Amino acid sequence: MGSMGFKVLVFGLFLVNVAVLCNGGSTSTFVRSVEKAVDMPLDSDVFAVPSGYNAPQQVHITQGDLEGKAVIVSWVTEDEPGSSKVRYWSENSKQKKIAKGIFVTYRYFNYSSGYIHHCTIKNLEHNTKYYYEVGITHTTRQFWFVTPPQVGPDVPYTFGLIGDLGQSFDSNKTLTHYEKNPTKGQTVLFVGDLSYADNYPNHDNVRWDTWARFVERSVAYQPWIWVAGNHEIDFAPEIGETVPFKPYSHRYHVPYKASNSTQPFWYSIKRASAHIIVLASYSAYGKYTPQYKWLEQELPKVNRTETPWLIVLMHSPWYNSYNYHYMEGESMRVMYEPWFVQYKVDVVFAGHVHAYERSERVSNVAYNIVNGICTPVKDQSAPVYITIGDGGNLEGLATNMTEPQPAYSAYREASFGHAIFDIKNRTHAYYAWHRNQDGYAVEADKMWFFNRFWHPIDDSTTHSSH
Ligand SMILES: *[C@@H]1O[C@H](CO)[C@@H](O)[C@H](O)[C@H]1NC(C)=O
Ligand SMILES: *[C@@H]1O[C@H](CO)[C@@H](O)[C@H](O)[C@H]1NC(C)=O
Ligand SMILES: *[C@@H]1O[C@H](CO)[C@@H](O)[C@H](O)[C@H]1NC(C)=O
Ligand SMILES: *[C@@H]1O[C@H](CO)[C@@H](O)[C@H](O)[C@H]1NC(C)=O
Ligand SMILES: *[C@@H]1O[C@H](CO)[C@@H](O)[C@H](O)[C@H]1NC(C)=O
Ligand SMILES: *[C@@H]1O[C@H](CO)[C@@H](O)[C@H](O)[C@H]1NC(C)=O
Ligand SMILES: [Fe+2]
Repeated sequence: MGSMGFKVLVFGLFLVNVAVLCNGGSTSTFVRSVEKAVDMPLDSDVFAVPSGYNAPQQVHITQGDLEGKAVIVSWVTEDEPGSSKVRYWSENSKQKKIAKGIFVTYRYFNYSSGYIHHCTIKNLEHNTKYYYEVGITHTTRQFWFVTPPQVGPDVPYTFGLIGDLGQSFDSNKTLTHYEKNPTKGQTVLFVGDLSYADNYPNHDNVRWDTWARFVERSVAYQPWIWVAGNHEIDFAPEIGETVPFKPYSHRYHVPYKASNSTQPFWYSIKRASAHIIVLASYSAYGKYTPQYKWLEQELPKVNRTETPWLIVLMHSPWYNSYNYHYMEGESMRVMYEPWFVQYKVDVVFAGHVHAYERSERVSNVAYNIVNGICTPVKDQSAPVYITIGDGGNLEGLATNMTEPQPAYSAYREASFGHAIFDIKNRTHAYYAWHRNQDGYAVEADKMWFFNRFWHPIDDSTTHSSH
């Protein structure tokens, strides 16, 4: 759109929506070439199997309790079960300890998994570097992680954001840019859709294995917080696979019981100065359902004096102005948005749409079927909604946007990338989205977040023209 057309459009919105929203957002002028993303071939370097008899592979960690003093370590052995124990020691003490785990296996159509081990290491010290070793008795491999500081209101902490990653050449660029970002992420909030194995015939679960080997270089060293996306459902009755989430729930364990959840698809954790709620777009969320009852009890427990930053993760976005998955998040929005406003959620991260978008602080809670009040309005108690399903999977980019750009949409761009949410203290967090551009991670969208509880002043980035 030319700048003249844009001015006319803004003026038109101004006339129509004078009491509502008069700030048009922006659609990036950066236009990426849209070749179809291609998965890395099976013999790629990133999928290499570690050498040695029964060597542990696909090593990954996630938070193992409510407050960050436990870590779940998971890995796969292929030749025989081997040991599910983890040997670990802190950088300072050097005294080696052993934690005992379990292993599981599953079959999917004609695929048989390796031995998938899960071991929770508990009672760790905060803010400490630990080394750990898996594969005890056969081939051992050593990794390390750093535990988060004790939960508290002014603890700085840096989260990375990645969604819909897949295992294409673009996925590898996204992960590389995340690793090379000068602002170092300490934990990844992964907003769902991991391997895209379900795009292969019979959901070829070998692609679940390759994906886990690909991301090991990050997730063996820092926790990734998991959200279940639609590509985790793996529901395929045509080949006799009728248990939803079978591969995902055998491979990725999360600490859902610590937050009194009854299913691994929705849960919460506290980490540093953040309270993070993970919701399930593909589990029942209507009134009286387990997820609804859990969230109803969960939100009043959030203590902003302890954890000022209230972050929600889900897969399917509520505010999405692309012509892909348009309004798929609507029914969940109708159910839960009033709570998000009431409890002043700071930010909601979602994936699913393979592009980037950031909203203004808006809500759309006034509509009651008959009153016609169905346009989102600026609301300083509402979260910012960020869609970051642009990790780079083989399905390619979502490029087709609704026009004109809705007023609630502050910034949108059809590029692959990742983001960093960098909490400074109880009032300020610096957020930046990095597009993958010509081999470089370019900071293409940024914003200072002001905490909704401690510093609830307008932090919008688009300004009215009057
Ligand atoms: C599973 O079945 C497919 C299709 O019949 C076949 O191509 C593949 O080789 C089989 N895989 C295994 C592990 O048997
Ligand atoms: C993936 O990225 C890493 C790090 O940049 C690089 O070493 C590796 O060769 C890449 N692999 C593929 C298949 O692109
Ligand atoms: C979980 O429920 C138990 C029993 O009601 C309660 O003691 C505990 O505080 C709850 N935990 C959380 C994180 O809400
Ligand atoms: C909230 O957290 C603060 C700081 O840890 C604590 O002093 C206070 O008692 C907590 N409030 C509630 C209602 O638990
Ligand atoms: C974009 O999506 C709209 C709505 O689905 C469709 O009518 C239109 O043809 C699409 N445009 C392109 C260029 O694909
Ligand atoms: C919080 O962080 C912001 C941004 O770094 C800074 O400007 C502000 O002074 C800090 N607040 C306090 C109380 O230190
Ligand atoms: Fe998705």
